Amino acid sequence: MQKLEIFGSKKLKGQIKISGSKNAALPILAATLLTNKKIIIKNLPNVSDIKTMITLLQSLGSRITTNKSQTIVDNSKQKKKFASYNLVKTMRAGILVLGPLLAKFGFAKVSLPGGCAIGTRPIDIHLKSLSKLGVKYKIDQGYVIAEAPKGLKGNKIRFAKISVGATENLIIAASFAKGTTILSNCAIEPEIKDLVNFLNKMGCKIEWISTRKIKIIGVSKLKEISYTIMFDRIEAGTYLIAAAITQGNLILQNIIPKVIKTEIEILKKIGSKILVKKNWLQIKGNKKIRNIKIKTAPYPGFPTDLQAQIMVLLCKSNKKSIIQENIFENRFMHVAELNRMGAKISIDGNKAIIKGNTNFQSAELMATDLRASVSLILAALTTQGKSVINRIYHLDRGYENIEKKLKKVGAKIKRV
Ligand code: UD1
Repeated sequence: MQKLEIFGSKKLKGQIKISGSKNAALPILAATLLTNKKIIIKNLPNVSDIKTMITLLQSLGSRITTNKSQTIVDNSKQKKKFASYNLVKTMRAGILVLGPLLAKFGFAKVSLPGGCAIGTRPIDIHLKSLSKLGVKYKIDQGYVIAEAPKGLKGNKIRFAKISVGATENLIIAASFAKGTTILSNCAIEPEIKDLVNFLNKMGCKIEWISTRKIKIIGVSKLKEISYTIMFDRIEAGTYLIAAAITQGNLILQNIIPKVIKTEIEILKKIGSKILVKKNWLQIKGNKKIRNIKIKTAPYPGFPTDLQAQIMVLLCKSNKKSIIQENIFENRFMHVAELNRMGAKISIDGNKAIIKGNTNFQSAELMATDLRASVSLILAALTTQGKSVINRIYHLDRGYENIEKKLKKVGAKIKRV
């Protein structure tokens, strides 16, 4: 099994090109199922979650070819409506094929994703909302078997809770329903805006009518298009923190800084100096790191997907910091490993209390999920000796060429 070896104590310096967004690409790939026309997708990140989604689409009959700069999806022969446990269990976003399959065929059998390291992660909101479009479903032997024999019909739906995945599944399904759908209490993550832009470019009629409300007029024909996926804001946030924690000086390219305004403001408060331009930014880390209280929240709040990374930075602050995790119930798996490296973090319900003034020590470590693994890299970058991170397949799910990118800006990191 592959591991990462990291020798710390290097200030990161140079330029990093941010990749395409995994979380934008996943629903966009699923949404290609709506059409038999050829779709060209650019800026797809080369990470294992995207490979899993491509394998899932291929198992449904999609023909997908990738060369260096673009991926071509051809669904003209796509007929299968069955998404197997083997594929959905490895990546929860597999549930995103449910909406498009129902819209296209009026039937789908998709494995329930089950829980994962960060919480139980049910799909009740996806299912309840789809039933309001006319879907009847049952759960049988770990599968959702859903059908809409008369097709989907537009409706007014208010999500009981803000959910990224449920908003995406419903936007995709309602785009092909008969009549008009109004979705309210929608998630408004930038990746959802990217999905809407993609669908509208294909010929869907989707319009934001207020901040969390969207109007969708169902269509039945779509066009052949080429679409470029937005940048990965979580990857960008991770490298911002890498610069801050190593007192480095990094330029991040291929981004739109206004999308990550919350993260930039928080890093500035903590002490980093950040120069913002239209499609790049420069960050210089400061020796003194100020303490802060952070709560994770749906966009435009601070992302749960950066919670583990910012925690590592706050371990270096001069006083006590508090992070409140409001999205997932079990997202502090990284704490035990960080404490093994010398951090002083205690957990009180959904709050992590971070004592600060930590000098991380190198150690042999175990990655537990995608963002937790990268937080261990960040901590290891600040140590004197050699750290070894095991189970890095978690990392490969969402970070493209991470060791190459870090090496290019001066980190001593090696995959073994
Ligand atoms: C997406 C992101 C993930 C991110 C999360 C929150 C992708 C592929 N993944 O995950 O990286 O951490 O948003 O920003 O884009 N919930 C229910 N019932 C449901 C659906 C969700 O109770 O039917 C709960 C979840 O358990 C969680 C909260 O709602 O507590 C938010 O989850 P959701 O926004 O749906 O996250 P995902 O779409 O799974």
